[in-house]
Amino acid sequence: MSMTNNIPREEGLDHSLSLLREGYMYILNRKKSFASNIFETRLLGQSAICMSGEKAAELFYDEEKFMRKGVAPKRLQKTLFGEQGVQALDDEAHRHRKSMFMSLMTKSRLQVLHEITKMQWQIAAMKWEQMEQIVLYDEAKEIMCRIACEWSGVPVKEEELKEQAEQLAALFESPTALGPQHWKGRYARKQLEQWVGGLVNQVREGHLTPPEGTALREISLHKDLEGKWLEEKVAAVEVVNILRPIVAIAIYVNFTALSIHHYPEQKAKLETADAKYFQMFVQEVRRFYPFFPMAAAKVRKDFTWEGYTFKEGTLTLLDLYGTNHDAELWDNPDIFNPDRFTGWGKSPFDFLPQGGGDYMMGHRCAGEFVTIEIMEVSLNFLVNQLAYQLPEQDLSYSLVSMPSIPRSGIVLKNIQRIV
Ligand code: HEM
Repeated sequence: MSMTNNIPREEGLDHSLSLLREGYMYILNRKKSFASNIFETRLLGQSAICMSGEKAAELFYDEEKFMRKGVAPKRLQKTLFGEQGVQALDDEAHRHRKSMFMSLMTKSRLQVLHEITKMQWQIAAMKWEQMEQIVLYDEAKEIMCRIACEWSGVPVKEEELKEQAEQLAALFESPTALGPQHWKGRYARKQLEQWVGGLVNQVREGHLTPPEGTALREISLHKDLEGKWLEEKVAAVEVVNILRPIVAIAIYVNFTALSIHHYPEQKAKLETADAKYFQMFVQEVRRFYPFFPMAAAKVRKDFTWEGYTFKEGTLTLLDLYGTNHDAELWDNPDIFNPDRFTGWGKSPFDFLPQGGGDYMMGHRCAGEFVTIEIMEVSLNFLVNQLAYQLPEQDLSYSLVSMPSIPRSGIVLKNIQRIV
């Protein structure tokens, strides 16, 4: 006879405000108070299940149990994700679109990305040597935008680059904001989709020929399961699905600079470290610092798991930040320690900064290799190719605001290239 358990339940009409008030800690706080990796609550006016940990992740990425269509709230679709993009697809349609994304991430294309990234940091550093100080976050957004456009085959005019970078950043800075900052994100999406849609059109009409293997070319010419090009607007959403998150790596660059500053012994170690240690350091930055708080799906059809009943249509959130800080999975999770990755078993369900599971079959981030490549080059640049100082500033970061960005943006002064 199968036993049924009741999922611990948070009482109250709606807890969306608590989620906004507690941010990255919302699920973790309740995981502690319920002493449970699963609880039920109400969010956005509906019943929702929140889960955390490796087993929960394995369940969450079971496509037979969960689906993505119609999950993202409007305010995220209008800013962060766009509409009808790969994030909202399921089954065969998802796999077909996702394989197009993954075809952009070949070894040789990652090598091209490596070279572009190295070059862009060097160009920026030459400019910074002439300046009194810089705000690394602002500079990194612009650098990442240059990298994103060049790697994706997207032509951008020098005089428009700053604005393009700001618009792409507004997509991830605005989703949970209220008032003008949120509307800035919505407006940015409209502008960006119009601009990129125009480029897609030019590729299709043969007026623009980005190199083979670049996102602009491959997405513009990608055919859906019926053998048709994507609608121009949808193709634009997918190109922006490459450009936007590359610009968002500016946040990880900021946290990388912060970790080098906060852990000087690590900096000394990195100065003589091999590539393997650089990889482990980057993994630890992605595990330790907050970025993407949670992933969302809904129950495809009724099922029971570990005695808990999941009802069809229930919104389900997987705690990404909390799983990366789960003491059952990570020794002393609140200590920054790249060495922990020496013995890491590479489970697809315990380390979730960019989601978990399988790239092709599931919704795991298509850009994880891109992120790691750019972060490794950026880390090497900050440690071995640049000398700088940090003036007095507020280096704290929030575990509430999503996304979290160090408050000062990391001000650097007396910058010199090490040649
Ligand atoms: C900046 C750091 C990044 C973080 C923290 C991040 C995080 C994530 C997360 C959490 C997901 C959703 C996983 C899920 O729903 O289960 C995701 C999906 C996705 N990411 Fe990233 N990502 C980053 C960078 C990138 C980059 C650089 C690219 C592209 C070059 C990219 C492209 C995508 C795409 C296309 C999806 C949708 C995948 C799907 O639905 O199948 N991301 N990312």
